[in-house]
Amino acid sequence: MIVRLSNGREIPVEMHKIKIVQKIDLLPVDQRLKAIEEGGYNTFSLKSRDIFIDMLTDSGTNAMSDNQLGAMMVSDNAYAGCETFYKLASAIEDVLGLKYVLPTHQGRASEHLIAKVFIKPGDVIPMNYHFTTTRAHFELAGGKVLEIYADEALNTQSTNLFKGNIDLQKLNDVIEKYSRDKIPFVRMEATTNLLGGQPFSMENLKRVKEICTAHKIPLLMDATLISENSYFIKMRERGYENRTVAEIIKETIGLTDIIYMSARKNSSARGGLIATNNKEFYERIKPWLPVYEGFLTYGGISFEQMEAMAVGIREMTDISVAGSVPEQVKYFVERCVEKKIPVVTPPGGLACHVDAKLFLPHLPQSQYPAGALAAAIYIVSGVRSMERGTISMDRDQDGKEVYSDLELARLAIPRRVYTMSHIEFVVDRLDWLYNHRNLVGGLKFVEEPPVLRFFFGRLEPLDNWGVKLAEAFKKEFGAKY
Ligand code: F0G
Repeated sequence: MIVRLSNGREIPVEMHKIKIVQKIDLLPVDQRLKAIEEGGYNTFSLKSRDIFIDMLTDSGTNAMSDNQLGAMMVSDNAYAGCETFYKLASAIEDVLGLKYVLPTHQGRASEHLIAKVFIKPGDVIPMNYHFTTTRAHFELAGGKVLEIYADEALNTQSTNLFKGNIDLQKLNDVIEKYSRDKIPFVRMEATTNLLGGQPFSMENLKRVKEICTAHKIPLLMDATLISENSYFIKMRERGYENRTVAEIIKETIGLTDIIYMSARKNSSARGGLIATNNKEFYERIKPWLPVYEGFLTYGGISFEQMEAMAVGIREMTDISVAGSVPEQVKYFVERCVEKKIPVVTPPGGLACHVDAKLFLPHLPQSQYPAGALAAAIYIVSGVRSMERGTISMDRDQDGKEVYSDLELARLAIPRRVYTMSHIEFVVDRLDWLYNHRNLVGGLKFVEEPPVLRFFFGRLEPLDNWGVKLAEAFKKEFGAKY
C-alpha cells in the first residue's frame, strides 16, 4: 500500500510481516571483483553466496505466503488424476475464467508447445514485444517475430503510461501484408518485460481483439505478469479506478483465445501453464504434454509446487499482492530520478531498469553497455542485476550482431523479499557509480554460445577497467565494503 507520510513523501508500506528469513552477506569489494572475473563478467555466472542483494530476476524467487507453504504439505502425489491438479484447475477457472488447463514445468515449456502446435516455417507472429525465450522458441519453429509497438515504447524517459500497447495501425498493416494464413496468432505480453515491464491498457487490448476477430486470428496472451498489468490498469486507466484487480484480470483474460504463463512470477511458485476455453486448441496441444512435460495432471511440476500455484493464483487477485512489486519499483525509480540516474520511466511491473545507453554514453553498443553496467553494479555493491540489451539478443543467421533496441541493466524486485533499506542501499551505490561512470569500460566475448548466449557467455573487460573501478571504490568506502 502506498502511504503518504506527514512530510509529503509517499512510501510503499509492505502489507505482510516476515516469518522466515535467509541470511545474506556483503563480501568486500576485492572478493566481488574476483567473483565477477571468475564469472566471465556475466552476472548469471555468479554464485548466490557471493551476492548481497539478488535482483537478477523475480522468477522463482518470490517469497511464498504462509497459506502456500501450508498447502504444499497436503499435496496429492498421484501420477494421474491427482487432487492437486483439480485444485489448480479450479483456481484457474475461478480467477482467469478458463476451463481447460495444461500444466507445464515453466513458461518456456508452454512457449515450446505453443510454437510446436501453431507455428509453421514462414509464419509471422505480431506482438507488442518479444521475450528472449519466446523469440527463441518461435524462431526455432520457423516463425518470425514482428514487434509492433508504438514508437514511444522505446523512449526510456517517457510519461506514457501504457508503453506496452500494440500500435493498431501497424497491426492492420501487418495483417494486410502477410494475410491471415501466415499469422497463427497475435501475441500480447502482460507488461512487456524487455521494454521495462510496461503495461498495455484495456482500451488497447479491446481494439486488438476487434482486429483479430475481424480477421479470424486468435489472440494469445503471455499472462506471466497479468496481476501487475491489471494493477496498472486499475491505477492508470480512466474508468477502472473502482474495479477490483480480480475483475480486471477476468476482463483481460476474457478478451483472449488462449494464454500461457510462467507461474514462477505472479503465482509465487515454480511451474507454468497453458489455459483456454477453446476445446479445439486444448485438444491439439494435449497429446504433446506427456511427450515433453509429464502426464496431463502434473505436466512436469512438482505436486507441492502445483499446490502452491493454486493458492498463489488466487492470492494474486489481492491488490496488496498484485501491487507489492509495482509499488516498490515506483519508489525505487522515483529515488533514482531524484538523483538524475537514467532509469526507465514510468515505473514498470517487475524491476527498476537502468538505461545503459544514457548511463554509459561513451560505450558503443558493440561493447555491450548493459552487460558492462550490470558487472560494474555488482563490483560496487554486491547487487546482482541482469543484462537486458545486445548480449540478450543472439546473432542473426549470418553471424552478424543484432543490436538491441534498448540497453538496460534490470534490477528486478522479487515479491515480498527485500525492504526499503535494501532499495535505499542500491540507489546509493548506483548514484556513486553514476558519478564515476567514466571508469566503466566495454566488454568483449571470449566464449559465446550459439543460442541464448546471455546465459552462459563469458566476457572480458576492455582495458581491465574492473580493477580500476574497484580501486576507486575502495578509496572512498574502504576495503571492507
Ligand atoms: N514470458 C515472460 C514474460 C517472462 O518474463 C518469462 C521469464 C517467460 C515467459 C519464461 O518463463 O522462465 O518460467 O520459463 N522471465 C524470467 C525473467 C526468466 O527473469 O524475466 P520461464
